[in-house]
Amino acid sequence: MDANVPKRKEPGKSLRIKVISMGNAEVGKSCIIKRYCEKRFVSKYLATIGIDYGVTKVQVRDREIKVNIFDMAGHPFFYEVRNEFYKDTQGVMLVYDVGQKDSFDALDTWLAEMKQDLGPHGNMENVVFVVCANKIDCTKHRCVDESEGRLWAESRGFLYFETSAQTGEGINEMFQTFYAAIVDLCENGGKRPIPNSSASFTKEQADTIRRIRNSKDSWDMLGVKPGASRDEVNKAYRRLAVLLHPDKCVAPGSEDAFKAVVNARTAVLKNIK
Ligand code: GTP
Ligand code: MG
Repeated sequence: MDANVPKRKEPGKSLRIKVISMGNAEVGKSCIIKRYCEKRFVSKYLATIGIDYGVTKVQVRDREIKVNIFDMAGHPFFYEVRNEFYKDTQGVMLVYDVGQKDSFDALDTWLAEMKQDLGPHGNMENVVFVVCANKIDCTKHRCVDESEGRLWAESRGFLYFETSAQTGEGINEMFQTFYAAIVDLCENGGKRPIPNSSASFTKEQADTIRRIRNSKDSWDMLGVKPGASRDEVNKAYRRLAVLLHPDKCVAPGSEDAFKAVVNARTAVLKNIK
């Protein structure tokens, strides 16, 4: 059994688990925890210094769970403090601010930091990750949409929730699902349960949608060089259409990606005699 699986795992018995929060400074990690544990929201920013620690008890099905929460500071300055706390973790709350693209782009860096600190024998496969797309109340400033966040999370087998610590939207549901998934993991001998939706699309589809979103022009989107022949363009288009057709692909964002590919093909063909 993996080292980070708690020993006491018989159904009905109480369970002690460790969860940590991760994500850039100011994305709302502490406020999410405060909203859940204290049912309140603080609008003034009080940066976490190093780590905040708290214990809470929750009920999941027939089990009482004692949750040790380590709320980490997001600021790079606290790296040395954080790196002691990654080990023996059963659950990670990975938070970004939907109005700060940088905080979304940084999620990979956070995973890399954890991986590096766990070392070659650390196992992140046996950890439940929940991605919180936070501050959804700030609709005017939103720049990372739901499909983009969901795709990033679900293509890695992570849970995904849209949350607002300010209004409380999504918070209870997120924690309940998160804790239930950790209990499932403990009862499943330490194997992360696969969320239903992650099985329904492939990594190739997820990567292609991400590539299409980030492409710089229509040629790039189709994956052909400027000056490609009509045949090459149609071939590239057909390959993408088969991969992303909404009848066949249920990955978040596939419909928009499919439409973008259709438009790209039309635009490119106009320029070929
Ligand atoms: P560090 O401790 O520095 O890593 O930051 P943090 O991620 O813990 O952020 P914190 O919870 O302290 O919140 C940062 C700021 O964002 C505060 O001013 C909060 O009031 C605000 N905030 C947090 N969540 C929300 C939210 O859902 N909506 C809005 N509008 N503001 C939020
Ligand atoms: Mg904090």
